[in-house]
Amino acid sequence: MRDKIIEIILNNQDEFTSGEILSKQLGVSRAAIWKHIKSLREEGYNIESVNKKGYRLIEKPGDLLTYKNISHELNTKFIGNKIIHFNTIASTNDYAKEIASSLEEGTVIISEEQTKGKGRLGRQWHSKINEGIWMSIVLKPDIIPYKAPFITLIAGASIVSALNKLGANTLIKWPNDIILNNKKISGILTELSAEIERVNHIVLGIGINVKTMEFSQEISDIATSLYKEDFKMSRVDIVRNIFMEFEELYMDYINNNCKEKTLNICRKYSAIIGKDIYTLKGDSKELVRCLDINEDGNLVVQTKDKIIKEIMSGEVSIRGIKGYI
Ligand code: BTN
Repeated sequence: MRDKIIEIILNNQDEFTSGEILSKQLGVSRAAIWKHIKSLREEGYNIESVNKKGYRLIEKPGDLLTYKNISHELNTKFIGNKIIHFNTIASTNDYAKEIASSLEEGTVIISEEQTKGKGRLGRQWHSKINEGIWMSIVLKPDIIPYKAPFITLIAGASIVSALNKLGANTLIKWPNDIILNNKKISGILTELSAEIERVNHIVLGIGINVKTMEFSQEISDIATSLYKEDFKMSRVDIVRNIFMEFEELYMDYINNNCKEKTLNICRKYSAIIGKDIYTLKGDSKELVRCLDINEDGNLVVQTKDKIIKEIMSGEVSIRGIKGYI
């Protein structure tokens, strides 16, 4: 019944299909139709209903971030083998952490909306329905904890590669932010559960602003979306491409300790190498020249006194001399 309703409203996508027509065609009551529409909505189908007109599908099912849509033509070994899709959830990272121990490596929690999306440093991450990609990948690498931060760089490299292959021209603001036209379109929140000598699991949270056109006042100067910058690409294609790019770089790192490809991408698409930037830590602020990203994935900078320093991810925040970048 559910599939038949989808088929009818999908075939009639630009127009409304009345409850009466649906109930006649399917031989069930209008109340039963309404019940099915309600549960379809709970599954994430964005169906508009207007009095006296009927129902109309707004978000094409092909654009929903479901396993069915993403797994089509997905050539990965384990990333995205299992996708748990929500219409709404508080935070995909929090949910992934809650159930991580029972999940296979590579499982992805993805939601059309987050009501308590988390950014780094306790910030809020705005995650409106159908407007972006809000997902968490569960990883269980057999590595010692100090090797875990490099996985954030792998994620950044794979997001940039995926988006640029689809036609955008994004850059990485080491280590966590993805930039388009000098504004942030994506952020990464890596959460680690570990013992001294081994990682239990890593939850790699990725947020990408895809269709958002309006940002709240506090972030409108620094945030943007792919659509706002005129890159109209499908969320499903983006997710699928990220999975494929990520898996390749991740397996290289975990199985062969090979960081070269990731580092090359991070350097080539760096938004800060060669620039003067401020590093911020608590109340202190230092102007430095950003020189490189080294073999460990740390940022190499030169101070005003010509001292070369290495900065580890998470140690400082970075600002451009004119503002965000
Ligand atoms: C940042 O730039 O501050 C990191 C943002 C990370 C946001 C993503 S959206 C999916 C996942 N779930 C969350 O609650 N946060 C991350």
